[in-house]
Amino acid sequence: TTGITELLLSRIRDVADYPEPGVVFKDITPLLADPAAFAALTDALAGVAAETGATKVVGLEARGFILGAPVALRAGLGFIPVRKAGKLPGATLGQAYDLEYGSAEIEVHAEDLDADDRVLVVDDVLATGGTAEASLQLIRRAGARVAGLAVLMELGFLGGRARLEPALAGAPLKALLTV
Ligand code: PRP
Ligand code: MG
Repeated sequence: TTGITELLLSRIRDVADYPEPGVVFKDITPLLADPAAFAALTDALAGVAAETGATKVVGLEARGFILGAPVALRAGLGFIPVRKAGKLPGATLGQAYDLEYGSAEIEVHAEDLDADDRVLVVDDVLATGGTAEASLQLIRRAGARVAGLAVLMELGFLGGRARLEPALAGAPLKALLTV
């Protein structure tokens, strides 16, 4: 049988010069379209939720929603969306973060997290770590604890893991693939 690493890698497509020249985009849509690969990915991330003792799963809009929602269901945990600013109707907490050009903000419903929660953050890719870092800050500001961060893929050359050390504060960062 093929190992999960090979299975997942075989379903991620490299797209040269997207979204701009010199960048190789990691396209996960072939993986999502393959139910065996998507199930293996979901099971692996749900395993991380169990290992870390998570009580809730946070997914980061947009691609973190695609992965995080089935992981939460598989793990038997609630799913909490962290959305780009302006999309959640209730009382929110917001966290700004820097992009290569300009800045962005993410939000969570304040009532979705409290001091009893241990939260696993799920996203597709860890690149510079800016998005994940903001989400971890948001979770702590909501009063919850961070169980860990789980991603399909870590782009090791961008140094996101080192950047996240303070925000993780000892919580595990699990990447199924490092490229
Ligand atoms: C991408 C990716 C991660 C983030 C990683 O999301 O899905 O969430 O960038 O980059 P970073 O580690 O440098 O923050 P993006 O906001 O581009 O778009 P999406 O809505 O398609 O998830
Ligand atoms: Mg994203």
